[in-house]
Amino acid sequence: MGEITNVMEYEEIAKQKLPKMVFDYYASGAEDQWTLAENRNAFSRILFRPRILIDVSKIDLSTTVLGFKISMPIMIAPTAMQKMAHPEGEYATARAASAAGTIMTLSSWATSSVEEVASTGPGIRFFQLYVYKDRNVVAQLVRRAERAGFKAIALTVDTPRLGRREADIKNRFTLPPFLTLKNFEGLDLGKMDEANDSGLASYVAGQIDRSLSWKDVQWLQTITSLPILVKGVLTAEDARIAVQAGAAGIIVSNHGARQLDYVPATIMALEEVVKAAQGRIPVFLDGGVRRGTDVFKALALGASGVFIGRPVVFSLAAEGEAGIKKVLQMLRDEFELTMALSGCRSLKEITRNHIVADWDAPQ
Ligand code: FNR
Repeated sequence: MGEITNVMEYEEIAKQKLPKMVFDYYASGAEDQWTLAENRNAFSRILFRPRILIDVSKIDLSTTVLGFKISMPIMIAPTAMQKMAHPEGEYATARAASAAGTIMTLSSWATSSVEEVASTGPGIRFFQLYVYKDRNVVAQLVRRAERAGFKAIALTVDTPRLGRREADIKNRFTLPPFLTLKNFEGLDLGKMDEANDSGLASYVAGQIDRSLSWKDVQWLQTITSLPILVKGVLTAEDARIAVQAGAAGIIVSNHGARQLDYVPATIMALEEVVKAAQGRIPVFLDGGVRRGTDVFKALALGASGVFIGRPVVFSLAAEGEAGIKKVLQMLRDEFELTMALSGCRSLKEITRNHIVADWDAPQ
């Protein structure tokens, strides 16, 4: 194969390199995978209204997220068990994010601990939290993340139970025995048993708290001073509650289409959430972001930044840290070019008028 020229090409390389069980876990969505395709397709229903003859000889992609200055509005979403992709796993991701000057979110279910990831060197990192039934486990973990220098908690709210991912059921997906969910190793929760269906689904059923509710968002604020991002909001109703509950930000996410199938693409849900948040807290998006044009569209619809999931694990599998660096660089370059060709020199110049969506009223 010739030179890699876009983020999507890493998926095929990862498919050839990885055991089927691992690739399917990374790639799959829930049930019919309608939302999985829709997360991509919906971007193609948004077109540009570029402005011309604007001096774009200098373009500034930098931004500030929760007070932290980063090089571009493209960040790394939490994806579990990265050492299945590559022996360096989350270490490689942390180094690549830091080199690119952007934020990495570490999954609760990482195969490297918060302390290990912190040991890779400086970098702005968020910690994604799954709430276990045993709240002592949660409190301990949050404290460890704080001590390890993580700057925010991304509380995942779309997973009271695991979505039905049929490939994982067929493959009897489980964490390979040479790996552990490192954050839970000392707590006897680091291993995943084999099950008659998905080992991960059984793990979630056994450990994750299905009773999680808005009052727990408040409880979380009593055990940490870190800002809390609510990850998995898809409606205006919940956006309003998130603001009231003291969230520092919202991530519009459908978990990469891995939870409830037939929810809308995140890019379709974004605008109603942005409107409901009324500028009180920043709104971010993840799901299907594969091009710089996608990043621009999300920002034009009011997102303060985007996160990428699968491109990280696929490029990690293909080329390790260098692969992730290349993904971040390609997205950066494409986004910068999109800004130039649309006549935008800074993120604040990107407006709703720079795009037209197929759901907009005719002019
Ligand atoms: C995820 N995602 C996820 N989310 C989360 O809150 N905690 C987690 O541990 C994981 N793990 C995970 C593993 C894999 C393999 C995937 C693909 C996704 C969801 C993730 O944070 C993000 O919402 C989506 O991946 C974004 O969609 P794209 O970029 O993968 O299309």
